Amino acid sequence: MKAGSHVLLCVTGGIAAYKAASLASALVQGGAVVDVMMTAEAERFVGPLTFSALTARPVYSSLWDAPERIPHVRLVREAQAAVVAPATANVIAKLAHGIADDLVTTALLAARIPVVLAPAMNDAMYRSEATQANLRALRERGYDVVEPGVGFLAERESGIGRLAEESALLGAIEVALARTRALEGLRVAITAGPTREAFDPVRFVSNPSTGATGIALAREAHLRGADVTLILGPTQLEAPAQVRVERVTTAREMYDAAIERAVGADVIVAAAAVADWRPADASERKVKKTEADLNVRMVRNPDVLAELGRRKGETFLLGFAAETEDHEANARAKLARKNLDAIAVNDVSGARGFGAQENALVVLWGGGGRRELGTARKEVLAARLLDCVQERMQARHARSGVEDDECC
Ligand SMILES: Cc1cc2nc3c(=O)[nH]c(=O)nc-3n(C[C@H](O)[C@H](O)[C@H](O)COP(=O)(O)O)c2cc1C
Repeated sequence: MKAGSHVLLCVTGGIAAYKAASLASALVQGGAVVDVMMTAEAERFVGPLTFSALTARPVYSSLWDAPERIPHVRLVREAQAAVVAPATANVIAKLAHGIADDLVTTALLAARIPVVLAPAMNDAMYRSEATQANLRALRERGYDVVEPGVGFLAERESGIGRLAEESALLGAIEVALARTRALEGLRVAITAGPTREAFDPVRFVSNPSTGATGIALAREAHLRGADVTLILGPTQLEAPAQVRVERVTTAREMYDAAIERAVGADVIVAAAAVADWRPADASERKVKKTEADLNVRMVRNPDVLAELGRRKGETFLLGFAAETEDHEANARAKLARKNLDAIAVNDVSGARGFGAQENALVVLWGGGGRRELGTARKEVLAARLLDCVQERMQARHARSGVEDDECC
């Protein structure tokens, strides 16, 4: 986090309010200026004095204290990002419906800055249709929601609803603070998810990719102002509501969609895990089980990334490499062979990578350029990756010392 970043921390009336004190302290120790707003109910759980002492700033809880300074607007204009932690079911419902009946809800309705919501509540309250619908509506409006954790809840039940870990909250705040409209007016195309290569109507060859990284990239690029097309393989995850989504199943469909929709974009991020081979002959009927072994001959699929590299022109093309050994050497060879501008290297040999919540990425580019993006949630890595793309594009435009600067 940049020293001097200005964060508005809104604390609402849940049992996890005590954890907000630790978050305020971590933000202050990270160099942020932190203003705290509390709901009246939050003050029943933790005293404002705790926050004013930790932040060395006044704590705000009423619309009517010094109203001539219009605190609900002033405080959201001074901050670069807001975080609601914990966010009660009540405040989530109010935000989803535009209700503004206290300082926190009125200020957030007036906010033009990114807002991070950290729900924390009883499992049944969290899972209720009302809360889920409210969270969905807020996500679609651009709020960043940090999912609560699963485990012991204050009411001695176990389930989902614990306030997310502090490191996850800090990661989400970092993403919110870094968000600018830097991609305004640019077309960004992203491929994501696995492909499926059927050998009969009920069986296929695939891989464990969930598309989470590509989906996070699409959402973040949209929030940075880009016109986003997401070409998405089969996945259980929901695509962001605000981006144009083209669903595909096979590698050949992915290829056709990429050539039609991605070629000519300003930025292409090829994050899909496209199957290299497909069964040579797909049976139209289910292949009957017998006691004998089954040999399936596999033939090569078209290489989506290589074709995008051949046709890329002025497009900034970022590829991914999922490697289990010699990660960087293999990725550098792929960077050159496929005419990419940069490549993100993903170690898929351990618990990380496919399907995991967290990942670790290294970005490589020509002339020996290298940047570690660290280990973090996929939303955080998506934001760091886009920062990197933006900086590389700027360097390319500047055309001075581009190849060997350590700019991203
Ligand atoms: C002991 C206790 C613990 C509570 N914990 C939570 C909680 O963790 N999450 C939540 O959404 N509501 C919780 N509530 C209910 C909220 O305090 C209540 O809905 C309140 O109206 C929230 O006000 P606010 O959203 O304006 O802060 C709790 C209530 C009590 C009495």
